[in-house]
Amino acid sequence: PVLVVDFGAQYAQLIARRVREANVYSEIVPHDITADEIRAKDPAAIVLSGGPSSVYEDGAPSLDGDILELGVPVLGICYGFQAMATALGGEVANTGLREYGATSVDVSGTDSVLLGGQPGSQVTWMSHGDSVAKAPEGFEVLASSASTPVAAFASDERKLYGVQWHPEVKHSEHGQAVLENFLHRAAGLPGDWNSSNVIDEQVARIQAQVGSNRVIAGLSGGVDSAVAAAIVHKAVGDQLTCVFVDHGLLRADERKQVEEDYVASTGVRLITIDAEQQFLDALAGVSDPEQKRKIIGREFIRTFEAAAEALVLEAQASDSDAEVKFLVQGTLYPDVVESGGGAGTANIKSHHNVGGLPEDMTFELVEPLRALFKDEVRAVGRELGLPEVIVGRQPFPGPGLGIRIVGSVDKQRLELLRAADKIAREELTAAGLDGEIWQCPVVLLADVRSVGVQGDGRTYGHPIVLRPVSSEDAMTADWTRLPYDVLAKISNRITNEVPDVNRVVLDVTSKPPGTIEWE
Ligand code: XMP
Repeated sequence: PVLVVDFGAQYAQLIARRVREANVYSEIVPHDITADEIRAKDPAAIVLSGGPSSVYEDGAPSLDGDILELGVPVLGICYGFQAMATALGGEVANTGLREYGATSVDVSGTDSVLLGGQPGSQVTWMSHGDSVAKAPEGFEVLASSASTPVAAFASDERKLYGVQWHPEVKHSEHGQAVLENFLHRAAGLPGDWNSSNVIDEQVARIQAQVGSNRVIAGLSGGVDSAVAAAIVHKAVGDQLTCVFVDHGLLRADERKQVEEDYVASTGVRLITIDAEQQFLDALAGVSDPEQKRKIIGREFIRTFEAAAEALVLEAQASDSDAEVKFLVQGTLYPDVVESGGGAGTANIKSHHNVGGLPEDMTFELVEPLRALFKDEVRAVGRELGLPEVIVGRQPFPGPGLGIRIVGSVDKQRLELLRAADKIAREELTAAGLDGEIWQCPVVLLADVRSVGVQGDGRTYGHPIVLRPVSSEDAMTADWTRLPYDVLAKISNRITNEVPDVNRVVLDVTSKPPGTIEWE
């Protein structure tokens, strides 16, 4: 793999993704990794990420200088570039000149390996206080900016490279080309990593892990669990049984998509559990968001456990050797990275991942998506032939519409919200906007009423909130500037077609400070 050494800002995940966009497999490792540990992973190349610190600060993450002696090509970015300069005997200075945001850079090395093919003047994205004042001996300076005499350097002989700017950020005009030059030209990596080799690799791994045992998978209707189960099905066929809990908090057509479209395209064996009444009873009268989340999580686990137990009994009755030993989970790479390095992060919401692991269950986990980012999961799903309605769908929270009703949840409110949500989705799709938005929660303010007029009569109905957001990873988000005519159409249809809703409002809050969901 290409190893991305994480110096502690949020850039490492982005770099890892950009490397994969160049069709080269990458993994993230912590900055306190030693040269020996790196050698043991036999990397094809190393990228040192940016970080929040100054190389001079006490406790600044340091670089094991021996990493630069392994003979493995290294690219240092921002803090990584400065850490490299320091370790190699160059000079880093606090010039008092800071550069943040879009910054013009003069490239002298337009025929170098790293910056070859690039224009002599370009806009890059910078974020630094310190600067490299003098390149290490034997290094060629490839670029400079108004406040940074050394904005990029290289030693082709030692295959060591660095840039002060952030090539992984889209605002750097030619950033991806810098990464690709490093990977393909400097490190000589072919760029042949793609979804079909992910599938082949995972199928072989799952077959080795599972053998002739039985496996169950919880389907949530979401992309991750659907793709995870489809890979496992490809690997072990009917040893897999999928369980889908219909908790009554689903969007319109969701059950049909799983029961018909998904089954038709994969051929998986599926059990659906009808649990609407059970969930509605448990939620009756509860309006506190955390309380709702906990109840939904608890009822889900109960239902899933009961289904799993029935399945185990059935399996044992028909074939006493084949107990159900494995559970499929759609864990993604960001979850893995974040739970490795997420010490001390505040609990903002109790995320309940439907399909999540009941704590006292004894299943062994099968996690075929552990190394993948969301867009890669979608690519794998398409490669496996899953229908676009499932693969292309927006993220949807496990607790479903239950946390998109502000106030207590009941069947009638769910029907209102389901109808409004369906209209919003239809219109966004019809306008060709699905690719532009990350997701668009539709929220019912069930405890709020406002006065309206319809026909000749006064109405006193509920508002619906549209919450369209753009995001790369849901950690941060901005509200999407949807065209007015699309908003008008959605508003018109919702107020006309959904009884008891007389107002549609638009949420124009970024995250932070607002979260994406309202609860
Ligand atoms: P927030 O509201 O925290 O949401 O900004 C970030 C992303 O996570 C989704 N979300 C959930 N997903 N179980 C899930 O599987 C949950 O309990 C849950 N809560 C929020 C949300 O839709 C957004 O994509």
